[in-house]
Amino acid sequence: MKKIVLFASGNGSNVENIIQHFKNSKVIAVAGVFTNNAQAKVLEKAKNHNVASFVFSKNDLESNLVLQKLQSLQPDLIVLAGFLLKFPEHIIAEFPHKIINVHPALLPKYGGKGMYGLHVHKAVMENKEKETGITIHYVNEHYDEGEFIFQTSVNIEECQTPEEIAAKIHELEHQYFPVVVEKLLIPNP
Ligand code: GAR
Repeated sequence: MKKIVLFASGNGSNVENIIQHFKNSKVIAVAGVFTNNAQAKVLEKAKNHNVASFVFSKNDLESNLVLQKLQSLQPDLIVLAGFLLKFPEHIIAEFPHKIINVHPALLPKYGGKGMYGLHVHKAVMENKEKETGITIHYVNEHYDEGEFIFQTSVNIEECQTPEEIAAKIHELEHQYFPVVVEKLLIPNP
């Protein structure tokens, strides 16, 4: 059985979608949900699906606590699904090519520090982009700059608000993110 752990900071719709996707899987299991936000709705979602959760502070992430917890779980893949803090280099070094992130835009556009969630969609709207999309990529020591794994785009000419763009992006994420995770772990089923 391959093990994944999920990191999120907020609502956790992607986390819930990934948990549901692998619920009856005989080959991939969600071993835990990690969050830096004790108020995050993702915690309730993990609980509802009987998935263990772990709340940590920024300090825990930057010191050794989160690393130790990950080492005890030995995940095959660490999936950042709406995780808003910078992932620390000492954890990346311990899990080479085993940490992936979903970004709600077509990187390298609209990436980097401060570019998360609605901030991304507001910038996309202000620039009158005709399309946007999602990028799933490996995590390296620079925000949103790791090797791309998957991209797909969507037309947003009819969107009137950043929230409408966000809804389209969530649809793409929910459709593709679990499938990409699955393909990375089980390339030839
Ligand atoms: C997702 O759209 C994800 O791409 C984005 O946060 C949202 C979380 O939604 N991540 C980033 O912006 C990271 N830079 P969710 O909590 O409903 O899954």
